[in-house]
Order: sequence, then structure tokens, then C-alpha cells
Amino acid sequence: MAETKYIPLPRPAARGRFSLEEAIAKRRSQRIFFRKQLSPAEIGQLLWAAQGVTAKPGNFYFRSAPSAGALYPMEVYAVTETGQYRYLPEKHALVLVLERDLRNDLCVASLGQEPVKEAGLDIVLCATYERPYSRYGERGKSYVDMEAGHIAQNVHLQAVALGLGSVSIGAFDDAQVAKILGLPEGQYPLCIIPVGYIA
Ligand SMILES: Cc1cc2nc3c(=O)[nH]c(=O)nc-3n(C[C@H](O)[C@H](O)[C@H](O)COP(=O)(O)O)c2cc1C
Repeated sequence: MAETKYIPLPRPAARGRFSLEEAIAKRRSQRIFFRKQLSPAEIGQLLWAAQGVTAKPGNFYFRSAPSAGALYPMEVYAVTETGQYRYLPEKHALVLVLERDLRNDLCVASLGQEPVKEAGLDIVLCATYERPYSRYGERGKSYVDMEAGHIAQNVHLQAVALGLGSVSIGAFDDAQVAKILGLPEGQYPLCIIPVGYIA
């Protein structure tokens, strides 16, 4: 079996240049970006804000955003000029999924919304409903959707704290996005978050 190659991310910073209150006050959906790549430190910080490990009691890993029953049903993908990557919270590392720039394809699948192809990074939140459904039944669906909102807001506030801009994109063709990202069966895209340098 081929060995998985991890791409370690720089250790996330514990302090930023804005207070939380300033980040909340400054956050605005940004849709016009310079076509410039984000640094590994910026990408790592944003992914940590999305789903990074913030406590490890015993063998359990708690993440940056709340999760109903701590089931953590979200997969986080990072899509950049160099390819599509999956974020591994427990290692704070990336795994390369595909070495191709998929931002243009994702833009088409998002009804041509330009920020998706112009931003240096698209964070795509994808959910597996199996565990929340088996524990909470139908209610599990809204729990997963709520969790995506928590995660997205963490990303938006972290973007502000890094001097970057972001926007939540909910208008896209689910099946097309799932196909572009090669999502495994049972995994569904919920939100695309372009993050970039504000033009
Ligand atoms: C669930 C959700 C889906 C959204 N989808 C889109 C979208 O597809 N395209 C877009 O440009 N903005 C989208 N937005 C951003 C809203 O348009 C934006 O939050 C709203 O206009 C308020 O502006 P503000 O975020 O600057 O406060 C979405 C926001 C949410 C919460």
C-alpha cells in the first residue's frame, strides 16, 4: 500500500493583530481579491481556525469549533493554485488529493461566482452525515448544517485577523462540486469559503 505523504503546516499563532471584538466589527463579506497565493502560515492558520485541535484530553481531540456530540462530521478541503488538499486536524497537516488547480471548475459550479476562482484559497466544508444521523436521527442534519456555520464564522474572523478577506458561498451545484472534488460516497459539500488578499 502506498504511504500517505503528509505536508506539515506551520504551527498556528496564538495571538493576532486584532482583538476578537475588532475582528467581529471589521468582518464583511469580501468578493474582490488580488490573484495572489496565500502563504503556508496563512493557510495553516485558517485551517486551524476551521477545525484545528485545541485540546487533547487523553486520546480525544477537541477542535476549534463546537460539534454536536463531538462527532466532528466535517471534512475540510483546501483548494489552491497548486492543488486540492485534505486537512488533517490531528496532525495539523495536509494530504494532497489532486495536483491541479480546481478553482476555475469550482467557480463554474458556483454559478460563475468570481471570488471562487480569484481567491488564493478556497476552503470547502464537506459533511458526512452518517454518525450524526445514527446518533440523532433526522435532527442530525440541522446539527451538521449548524456546525458548518460555526466553522465558517471562525474562518471569517481568522481571515480578518490576518488582514485577509473571505465570503461564504452557498450557491453552487452540489453534485458538480462533489464531482470536481472527487468526494467519496456519502460526503456532501456545504460551503465554499474563498479567502484572499482584498483588492
Ligand atoms: C449560508 C450563506 C450562504 C451565502 N452564500 C453566498 C453566495 O453564494 N454568494 C455570495 O456572494 N455571498 C453569499 N453569502 C454572503 C452573504 O451575501 C452576506 O453574508 C450578506 O450579504 C451580509 O453581508 P456581510 O457578510 O458582509 O455582513 C452567504 C452567506 C451565508 C451565511
